[in-house]
Amino acid sequence: QRPPATILFIFGGSGDLNLRKLTPALYNLYLDNYLSDRFSVVGLGRSDYSDESFRERLLEGVQSFSRRKNGPDDIWASFSKTITYLQMDAADDGAYAKLSEYVSAKEEEWGVQANIVFYLAVAPQLVPGIATNLGKLPLCCEKSRVRIVVEKPFGHDLKTAQELNNLLGGLFAEEQIYRIDHYLGKETVQNILALRFANSLFEPIWNRRYVAYIQITASETVGLEGRGGYYEGSGALRDMIQNHLLQVLCMVATEAPISFEANEVRNKTVDVLNAIRRIKPEQVNEVAVRGQYGPGQKDGKSTPGYREEEGVKPDSKTETFAAVKLFVDNWRWEDVPFYLRTGKSLPEKATVITIQFKPAPYYAFPEEATNGWQSNRLTIGIQPGMDIRLRFQAKRPGQTLAIDPVEMVFSYKDAYEGQEPEAYETLLLDVMTGDATLFMRADQVEAAWKVVTPILEAWEAETPDFPNYEPGSWGPEAAAQLVEKDGFSWMMK
Ligand code: BG6
Repeated sequence: QRPPATILFIFGGSGDLNLRKLTPALYNLYLDNYLSDRFSVVGLGRSDYSDESFRERLLEGVQSFSRRKNGPDDIWASFSKTITYLQMDAADDGAYAKLSEYVSAKEEEWGVQANIVFYLAVAPQLVPGIATNLGKLPLCCEKSRVRIVVEKPFGHDLKTAQELNNLLGGLFAEEQIYRIDHYLGKETVQNILALRFANSLFEPIWNRRYVAYIQITASETVGLEGRGGYYEGSGALRDMIQNHLLQVLCMVATEAPISFEANEVRNKTVDVLNAIRRIKPEQVNEVAVRGQYGPGQKDGKSTPGYREEEGVKPDSKTETFAAVKLFVDNWRWEDVPFYLRTGKSLPEKATVITIQFKPAPYYAFPEEATNGWQSNRLTIGIQPGMDIRLRFQAKRPGQTLAIDPVEMVFSYKDAYEGQEPEAYETLLLDVMTGDATLFMRADQVEAAWKVVTPILEAWEAETPDFPNYEPGSWGPEAAAQLVEKDGFSWMMK
């Protein structure tokens, strides 16, 4: 669906997010003919740019970060005409009238009313001030055509998330607010619902009778990449688990929606968050593990520890690794453990979901035939390997009876040769067309904070023994024990 006439204002126009993600996404949407013929994107910021110098900077972003670069046919030349720069200090309350003036002028030029999107690609401390000023613009009362997009983090904890939601909710209607969790924009994450609810094969066994446990790993090889200032106040639990991994868990665990209407899907997923068993303070050390990488060797070179990174305190308590064991208390999932883990400076960059099924109830085969037998397992590769693997047993050809584990593989690359849209392409198009299915509602954000709050509080109260893992390793020993004490191990394939 192509959106109607749209004006997209990007606060933080000259910042990293716009350079790396937003403009490359818009450029790809333009290439695929998904943008309206009446489309204008306005970068806002304090820096001094002309339209021309701003476009040049963004072109660098497209050349470095877009899945398709600007080629010899120079599509950029026509796309970049949609880009304007407006110098504006977001802290200057008097400056916001400029935005309404821009809208009026554009609408007059186009001869139609446009949808207006305000994208806040700014540091979290600037969000309340900008939202308050936007909320005062008479334009913003027009619920059906004005939207505001807010990036994570949504608060630092439950209390601050509630404050932010109350503030935004006092200024905008909930249907105008688009809280981005970019994991929900990933093709492979959206495909979880297709796998489960467009097939009749999986759903009958997708429950506690057949599933032994579920794991979700999001591992990263990189360290901080200059983001120490932000990360130091966040840590792995807040940065990845409270949002991305819990949202993925919701996709895996949700009941079937009766339609793909935004509120129906979000009602169902918030039910999952609300069903996650509350962790008691005295249980935290049993079900949650934190780690921080120290200095060491990676790829034969010595690398600094987290505490040596720029913007990080020398005695930092911030975790760069977190693993948790959760339960979803409902009829479908009672007592099935969900293990989530994430970390920086690990051996692989990969996000993988494992659905481990219970063993077959009885083995009629002779014992020697079943050496190496493995229970059925469904592995969903979110990135970079985008595939689904079903592990099952097969008879090894030959006169001796032997059973081996083998795999059926669906690979996106083989099945769909084209390039998949990036998460931000999907999400930006959804904002422009007014589809909030893949965005977080206020109650979802708060329910997710409730899940992690007991862990955050217990960790805050104790001084961890950091650093406790080698860069390039799978995190602290306690993370392996978290699953091993239940008789399992972490899976990546
Ligand atoms: C961001 C986190 O939300 O997600 C980063 O703030 C993390 O710390 C990133 O690196 C991971 O995203 P992706 O899409 O590369 O898995």
